[in-house]
Amino acid sequence: MSTANDTLCALADDYYVPVYRPRRIVLDRGQGSRIFDIDGREYVDFGGGIAVNALGHAHPALVEALTAQAHRLWHTSNVFVSEPPLRLAQALVEASGFASRVFLCNSGAEANEAAIKLARRWATAQGRDPGQRVILTFRGSFHGRTLATVTATAQPKYQEGFEPLPGGFRYSDFNDLAAAEAAMAAGDVCAVLVEPVQGEGGVMPATEAFLSGLRALCDRHGALLMLDEIQCGMGRTGRLFAFEDYGVTPDVVTLAKALGGGMPIGAMLAGPRCAETLQFGAHGTTFGGNPMAAAVAAVVLRELSSDAIRANVARQAEAIRTGLAAIHEEFGLFADVRGRGLMIGAQLRPERAGEAAAILDRCVGQGLLLLQAGPDVLRFVPALNIGDADVAEGMQRLHAALREHVAA
Ligand SMILES: Cc1ncc(COP(=O)(O)O)c(C=O)c1O
Repeated sequence: MSTANDTLCALADDYYVPVYRPRRIVLDRGQGSRIFDIDGREYVDFGGGIAVNALGHAHPALVEALTAQAHRLWHTSNVFVSEPPLRLAQALVEASGFASRVFLCNSGAEANEAAIKLARRWATAQGRDPGQRVILTFRGSFHGRTLATVTATAQPKYQEGFEPLPGGFRYSDFNDLAAAEAAMAAGDVCAVLVEPVQGEGGVMPATEAFLSGLRALCDRHGALLMLDEIQCGMGRTGRLFAFEDYGVTPDVVTLAKALGGGMPIGAMLAGPRCAETLQFGAHGTTFGGNPMAAAVAAVVLRELSSDAIRANVARQAEAIRTGLAAIHEEFGLFADVRGRGLMIGAQLRPERAGEAAAILDRCVGQGLLLLQAGPDVLRFVPALNIGDADVAEGMQRLHAALREHVAA
């Protein structure tokens, strides 16, 4: 690594609140699914900025949308109307097939925060007292880092030391319908918030019985079914929305990450049961629906809705799984390979538990950017338009990294 690289990493150590521990490379530019550091070293990108760069880096249509909007109008706030966020909201409603209104915000946590507030107001409007406004979430979930969303996130490691946490959340086991039924038996749950495919919790798809069972439980108990598609939505599973795979109609869906293709934006989509709940003054954000982010997101949505993307997700998911099977045959590293579409998790065998981070370091050494989902799972969330050559090269580099890791 160059002196410039080391100098910048040292500055990051000095100036950032040290909540992150980035790998010691300074990324400089990207093109498609290749990314370059400041020393000109090239990497295959299998992480996509944590499932964000769904159309790769510097996609020409996104660059064009962003630069065109940059010459027109950057920001208005929500006390005025501008066209890009309006067109985006319209396109999201039309594409969703269930939503009638959209709240635009800036991140995943904010989208879930909006959903949580909507659920509480919805229950309030029905005359339920505060004790009857419980939100049910699932162990292993991840819903964000604000106080309410970290409380919804049923993983103690994200919550410890931040107590007192907001009340009115209850946790149940993921993919255990009987446990969810018991957790809702008292009739005090006003909403269920669930990821159709848990991301940070280890790339864990919900079973069809679980998700459709939750829909039925919500109907029986008068609760909202709210799907967090922040990581698994926007085409990642092979359908624009993950719920389409499950044949379940939600009341609320939250989006962020890939929606902006790299621009920060989030959205809460609300169906007819609750779309009128949040009225004037009930919620808001200065930057939500920022014209720059919205102009890009509208193009992202159009591109990710195409049949070509859907076909490519299936094709490249198959290629990655085939590559992982061959790697497993050679090194016997994985206990499980799971996921949906281009959201794939390779769980390390118990004797390799905790080695994901070391493997990712080796991947960087071989020119591959990969992610983990917890200490034991390698997570593949590349761009949805990644090409054959990039996948083949990335799998070769992964093979080299794992060979090195096993030999060490
Ligand atoms: C499923 C899910 N929900 C919510 C979030 C929070 O999104 P953000 O980091 O944009 O606040 C994430 C981020 O990883 C996520 O994966």
